[in-house]
Amino acid sequence: MRKRNTNSYRLRVRVLIFSKRKPTPTSKKRNLVTFTNPNSLISDQFRTIRTNLHFLTEERKNKVLLITSTGKGEGKSTITANLAVSMAQQKERVLLIDANLREASIHKIFKVSNNIGLTDLLTRQLNLEEVVTKTEFGNLDVLTSGAISYNPVELLANSTVKELFKKIMDSYDIVLIDSPSINEFTETRVLANQCDGVVLVLNRGKTDIENTNEASRIIELSHGKLIGAIFNEK
Ligand SMILES: Nc1ncnc2c1ncn2[C@@H]1O[C@H](COP(=O)(O)OP(=O)(O)OP(=O)(O)O)[C@@H](O)[C@H]1O
Ligand SMILES: [Mg+2]
Repeated sequence: MRKRNTNSYRLRVRVLIFSKRKPTPTSKKRNLVTFTNPNSLISDQFRTIRTNLHFLTEERKNKVLLITSTGKGEGKSTITANLAVSMAQQKERVLLIDANLREASIHKIFKVSNNIGLTDLLTRQLNLEEVVTKTEFGNLDVLTSGAISYNPVELLANSTVKELFKKIMDSYDIVLIDSPSINEFTETRVLANQCDGVVLVLNRGKTDIENTNEASRIIELSHGKLIGAIFNEK
């Protein structure tokens, strides 16, 4: 039996509801509060999450973290995007991958093209540089989902994903992966198995304790490592 990860649930940081002030033209579409309002309480909370993640992963450089949740619309993409910006502000080389091949949204948050992305990298002979989009946020690059017409499970269960992660780590300090819910979708379980750590987004009012226990059990069965949870108080 696999030894239970003692680090589980140590990362409990609240991300309160984003500012209710009238949004600026840039903030309106992006939900990137860490960029539009770096001195806010929320940005500060993202810095705390960033620091805690460093401690929880024993300050090891070059790691791949999966961000997921128990169900739909709990804030995974929003949290992952803001965390990625926050990490890049710390001069880290960050790659944010949109592995939600069912309902991709990272390209919308960053307002970048999704003509080419992860699915193309996994199905065609392409180099990482050809599919990654540079952003205006320091060393933050984004790998959007690419076309969503493939079978996500088949695609992500492929051994090339593991090889891809290995290759990617030469160019980045940290890789954050946005994904669909782990309770519902098999490909997220596959990713949990291949990542260095899994972070659960828990949403006040949406996430219930039974589903959270189920997610924890699924991560364990997938031989993933649950390193903590982010409490999204949306
Ligand atoms: N803390 C927050 N404050 C305000 N709005 C939020 C917050 N977290 C998420 N939202 C909003 O809630 C909606 C769902 O968030 P998001 O897309 O990040 O969820 P998700 O878990 O990635 O969804 P899916 O399961 O479809 O991928 C979005 O419109 C997002 O802007
Ligand atoms: Mg999402």
